[in-house]
Amino acid sequence: MNDKAKEGWPDWSILIVDDEPGMRNFLVKTLVPRCHTVMNAGSAEEGADMLQNHHIDLIILDISLPGRNGVSWLKELREQGFSGQVILITAFADLDTAIEALRAGASDFILKPFRVPQILNAVKHCFENARLTRENHVLRHTLSTRRDVSNGLVGHSPAMRQLSQSLGRVAAVNSTVLLQGESGTGKELVAHALHALSLRAQGPFVPVNCASMSPELIESELFGHAKGAFTGATKARDGLFYYAQGGTLFLDEVADLPLPLQATLLRALEDLKIRPVGSEKLLPVNVRIIAATNRSLVEEVAAGRFRKDLYYRLQVVEITLPPLREHKEDMADLVAHFMAQLAPVLGVAPLDITPAELDYLMQYPWPGNVRELRNLIERSLILGALNVSALYSVSQPALPAQPVAGLNRRATDLQTLEKQHICAILDSVQGDKTQAAQMLGISRRTLERRCAEWAAP
Ligand SMILES: Nc1ncnc2c1ncn2[C@@H]1O[C@H](COP(=O)(O)OP(=O)(O)OP(=O)(O)O)[C@@H](O)[C@H]1O
Ligand SMILES: [Mg+2]
Repeated sequence: MNDKAKEGWPDWSILIVDDEPGMRNFLVKTLVPRCHTVMNAGSAEEGADMLQNHHIDLIILDISLPGRNGVSWLKELREQGFSGQVILITAFADLDTAIEALRAGASDFILKPFRVPQILNAVKHCFENARLTRENHVLRHTLSTRRDVSNGLVGHSPAMRQLSQSLGRVAAVNSTVLLQGESGTGKELVAHALHALSLRAQGPFVPVNCASMSPELIESELFGHAKGAFTGATKARDGLFYYAQGGTLFLDEVADLPLPLQATLLRALEDLKIRPVGSEKLLPVNVRIIAATNRSLVEEVAAGRFRKDLYYRLQVVEITLPPLREHKEDMADLVAHFMAQLAPVLGVAPLDITPAELDYLMQYPWPGNVRELRNLIERSLILGALNVSALYSVSQPALPAQPVAGLNRRATDLQTLEKQHICAILDSVQGDKTQAAQMLGISRRTLERRCAEWAAP
């Protein structure tokens, strides 16, 4: 028995879903000696049947199946609650597909054709992931039994400390709260925190995005409607106010509420009663309102787009969230937080950020605030190195030159993108392989191997 054959996962059941019989046979032959059960299916339908009747730890899934896209099937499986590991395999890949696949919950992504060691390595990683997920679950359970409710906000800067203090004071009372702040500053997070810290924490938290609902439907969405209230209202339906009874109704993007609705909402808040569309009945409501907007409501009022009386009704307590550029002291904490939060979800190891990189992050103006930082960390984890190229393109000319060059978005396969990225990094450090390897988060030997592969005829 050679070394590789000894490596195995004797408890694991694997399902292979690929329409090419040759690929299925190759995978079955490779995995059968190493695993408890290996099943295979030629289509998503066949695969779904097997999943119904068998416990599966890992699916090796082809992206292009007859009449079905593997990534969309994977999303469906995740929605249905499949929590096992998934390796996606494909002959054609671009960066967007890879990112979409990882977001859909794939643990790994392999390009065909691949060799035996590659697939065995991927399975080994999945096995490790599964073990870590189980350990995390236990840890989370242990932590959740501790009673200190944290508000989920990261940061110890004076601005964040002041915010946390206001939240603590405001959460306990029932007053309406208006959250203002630029996009991505954490208004939704704060709304959740206010609810979780309030006496209504056991009740529902119902978010309503006023910008995304059609003006015709928004009234019935909020207040419900009677049967026959309008064409298509074949059944009476409760509104979101009703679903929020005993809890919190979060009116997000409240500046986008159409003017006539603003009047109806004001009446509801003053009377603490709602009237479903087309009904004579008044329903008493017991909800706490938290509203949020990234526009200045004062300006909206001045421009005649927002009712002054509703503005005063909403801003009983007003909390303004600071933009990230005003609390950059929290950068290191936020970076560490998103690394720790996202790396396990993406199934990758957290990246080490060098002091120079942190310095760069501190100088960048962050127009998209904490959301932009979170997206940067997510993208960097997927690419395996801090990826500031996207930031660089919109940053101020006054910023110091950054050694990480932009990727050519027209490249269509991962290998080409990887090669471009590695070459750009090497260029930026004048060919210093030790430094480049460090920036790429790989060992110098791996980097040298890659370069040798490209040099081979
Ligand atoms: N202080 C913070 N600590 C941890 N995470 C934060 C913090 N601030 C924001 N975030 C995270 O940043 C992302 C954006 O926050 P959120 O959606 O609450 O922003 P928002 O103010 O509602 O933006 P928009 O106006 O665009 O709706 C979320 O993932 C949120 O969890
Ligand atoms: Mg929001």
